[in-house]
Amino acid sequence: MSLLLTGIGELTTNDDELGTLPDAALVLDGASVVWAGPASSAPAADSAVDLEGRAVLPGWVDSHTHLVFAGDRTTEFAARMAGQPYRAGGIAVTVGATRSASDADLTAVMSRHVAEAVSQGTTYIETKTGYGLDVPNELRSAVLASDQVDEVTFLGAHLVPPGWDADSYVDLVCGEMIEAVTPHVRWIDVFCETGAFDGPQSRAVLEAGRKHGLGLRVHGNQLDYGPGVRLAVEMNAASVDHCTYLTKSDVEDLASSETVATLLPACDLSTRQPLPDAQALLNAGATVALASNCNPGSSYTTSMAFCVATAVLQMRMSVAEAVRAATWGGARALRREDEIGILRPGSRADIHVLDAPSITHLAYRPGVPLTYAVWRKGERVR
Ligand code: NIG
Repeated sequence: MSLLLTGIGELTTNDDELGTLPDAALVLDGASVVWAGPASSAPAADSAVDLEGRAVLPGWVDSHTHLVFAGDRTTEFAARMAGQPYRAGGIAVTVGATRSASDADLTAVMSRHVAEAVSQGTTYIETKTGYGLDVPNELRSAVLASDQVDEVTFLGAHLVPPGWDADSYVDLVCGEMIEAVTPHVRWIDVFCETGAFDGPQSRAVLEAGRKHGLGLRVHGNQLDYGPGVRLAVEMNAASVDHCTYLTKSDVEDLASSETVATLLPACDLSTRQPLPDAQALLNAGATVALASNCNPGSSYTTSMAFCVATAVLQMRMSVAEAVRAATWGGARALRREDEIGILRPGSRADIHVLDAPSITHLAYRPGVPLTYAVWRKGERVR
C-alpha cells in the first residue's frame, strides 16, 4: 500500500541532488520512500495525507545513548548544579543499580526511553552496554538492548569496576567478556579518558574488537585533552564521541579522516563543560553528528530537538548544519547513511513532520514540542 504525503511546506532530504524543497511531496511504499519531489509532479498513491504546509525532515538518528540502566542520579546532578564537578566515577553508582535490577525492570526503563524518543521524532537509536561491567551483566545488557533498539555497542570498557586493577579488567574485556557479547552487538566502544582507560588500554580494547569483527567507536576528549581522538582516527573508528576538548591537530586529524566527530551538547551542559567547537570542525571539513547521549549520569534527555536547538543557539551551527548532523551525521556515524537520515527513493521511510513551516522553528522556538507526526519504517508511530 503506497502513501502520498503531500502539502509539505519544506522538505529536508539530505540528498545532494534533491536538497531542500518547498511545496513538496513524498511517496512511501512499505518501509521505503519510493518518490520525493515537487508536489505538483507527485504520482498517485493508494492513500494520501495533506500536511498543510508543515516541514518534513528525516527522523532523528540518535547515534549515542546509554539506555540499559536502572536507578537515578538526581542527587549527583543537584550537587553538580551546586558546584561539584562531574566525575566519571558516578558510573559505578549506576552499575550497582543495574546489576541489582531484574531483566523486566531494565527492559521497562529502556522501552520507556525509546518510546519517549520516538514520540519526539527519533526513528533510529544506537545504545550501549556499559553499566554491567562483568560478564553476565554485560551479556544481558547486550541481549536486552538488541530487542529494543536498532544498533547495540559493547562498552565493557566504560570504567574499571571496583575491586579490579585496570590491566586485569582490560584482559577480561578483551577475553571472556568480548567472546560472550560479540554475537549480540555490532560495535565496540571504549571510554578513553583520565579516570577510565588510557591510550594503550583503549587501543587494546579496540584491537580486540576489530579481531572479533566489530566496528569501532570511541568516547574521547570529554573531560580534558587526551589521546582519544588521535587513537580513533588512527584506528579508523566510525565515530569519536564527545570531542569537547580538541587541539588544532585533533581537528585536522578528524578532517582528514573517515571518523565522524559526534558532539553531545546536552551532556556538556549537564556536566558544566564548555560546548565543543563545532565551527572549527565544520570549517576544517570534518563530518559532525549530534546525539543525545541519554544516560542517567551526564545527560538525562532523549530530546534530539534540544540538542539541535543548543547547537544552533550556543554552538553557532546553522539550523541546516545542526539538522543534518542530527540526521545524516548520525547515520554516517553508524555507517548507515545510504539508508537512514536521508529521504530519497530507496531510503527507509523514517519521517518526522514538524508542527511548523520550517526547520528554523527548531531553534526559533526552543523547548516547544514541535513533533506533529512520525513514520518509522513506513509505519505511523505518532
Ligand atoms: O558518555 N563518558 C562516559 N560515559 C557516559 C557517562 C555515563 C555516566 O555518567 O553514567 C557519557 O557521558
